[in-house]
Amino acid sequence: MPMMGTRYHPGREGEIDPRFLGPLAARILELSRERWDHSGEVAIVGRSRRLEAVLEKASRVADFDEPILLTGESGVGKDSLAQAIYLLGSRREGPFVTVNCPQFQDGNLTVSELFGHKRGSFTGAVADRKGCFEEADGGVIFLDEIGDLHMGAQLMLLRALSSGEFTPLGSNQPRRVNVRVIAATNRTLSATGLGEHFRGDLFFRLRYFHLHQPPLRERGDDWLLLVNFILDRLQYRHGIAKSFSEQSLQMMRAYSWPGNVRELFGVVTSGYALSSGEVIEPEAFSSLIEMDGNHMARRVEDSAIRQMALNQGDFWSTIHQRYMERDLNRDQVKSAVAWGLTRVNGSYRRLLKLFGLPDKDYQRFMDFLRHHKLKPPA
Ligand SMILES: Nc1ncnc2c1ncn2[C@@H]1O[C@H](COP(=O)(O)OP(=O)(O)OP(=O)(O)O)[C@@H](O)[C@H]1O
Ligand SMILES: [Mg+2]
Repeated sequence: MPMMGTRYHPGREGEIDPRFLGPLAARILELSRERWDHSGEVAIVGRSRRLEAVLEKASRVADFDEPILLTGESGVGKDSLAQAIYLLGSRREGPFVTVNCPQFQDGNLTVSELFGHKRGSFTGAVADRKGCFEEADGGVIFLDEIGDLHMGAQLMLLRALSSGEFTPLGSNQPRRVNVRVIAATNRTLSATGLGEHFRGDLFFRLRYFHLHQPPLRERGDDWLLLVNFILDRLQYRHGIAKSFSEQSLQMMRAYSWPGNVRELFGVVTSGYALSSGEVIEPEAFSSLIEMDGNHMARRVEDSAIRQMALNQGDFWSTIHQRYMERDLNRDQVKSAVAWGLTRVNGSYRRLLKLFGLPDKDYQRFMDFLRHHKLKPPA
């Protein structure tokens, strides 16, 4: 178990315990300090294989010019991933411009924000305005929450992506810029998952590369590194060193973090602020994470899944045994199996492997699922 009982005491601002970061994240942090100083530093805490794999992929696609689509639940860190790609790529000397797509509910304003306008092109356009695409010339434009981009701007964006050209509102002079597009969404990744208000052709145009940031509950012990990282920051800012009790950590370990890293920041900060002593007990934060009993219950099978992922047991010694001892009910085992199947594209052979079992266990495994009616509907 990393970091437990070995709290690190930060010296000055910006000092981040190197044990919180994998090698690529350390590089990204360094690049962000070169680019933006300490105020804009990008710290991607976590050393899980899932996170490292995403950063690895980010570094591979960083030097291409084609668009990237980032997906992942809310609060997983898509914004920092977009910055990381920018920093790792050769455009890092150029600008990084963020557009929050849902900000504009009006077609003209959206088009104007992205592509600019000529004075008088619509009511309220009192002067010429450069759009974000021009601002981002030579660099990267980050289109956040792309699923909420106004329909009126989607066709223009599609054209800009295919031809590299666009025309500001009210102008007849096409412009050409050299911009790399990174788009993000927390909706399901499919042309239809983005909703009927999103053009399928634009979706495929944006998804040249696809990076998926996994939820925090699938990132092993990253949550614990984040807890310590956040505590360090709070200690630096408020001068008092505090840590979570064993019971508090137990509770966090058993939680599924539906709001991901953003939620964890809130819980740790609240626990730090509300605890009277230097050891943070569950009372200081439990109201935040007990709200929804479902999220605790789900973790019973999640922890079995995690044990298997860490090679601390196979299906028989984790899920099967707990099921036989009635620690897990049928629905929980079913949902663990369903979860596993989504990881392996529905193949029971590969599920076997994921669950730490040798090929020769196939028949026994399938018989068990069948006998106890644990197979999720296909
Ligand atoms: N691995 C990480 N290490 C440190 N901080 C992180 C990490 N991941 C996310 N954060 C922080 O958590 C917060 C939420 O992350 P972010 O805003 O990037 O989420 P998001 O995926 O863009 O969510 P949404 O879909 O809701 O916009 C931010 O303050 C971010 O800096
Ligand atoms: Mg975001």
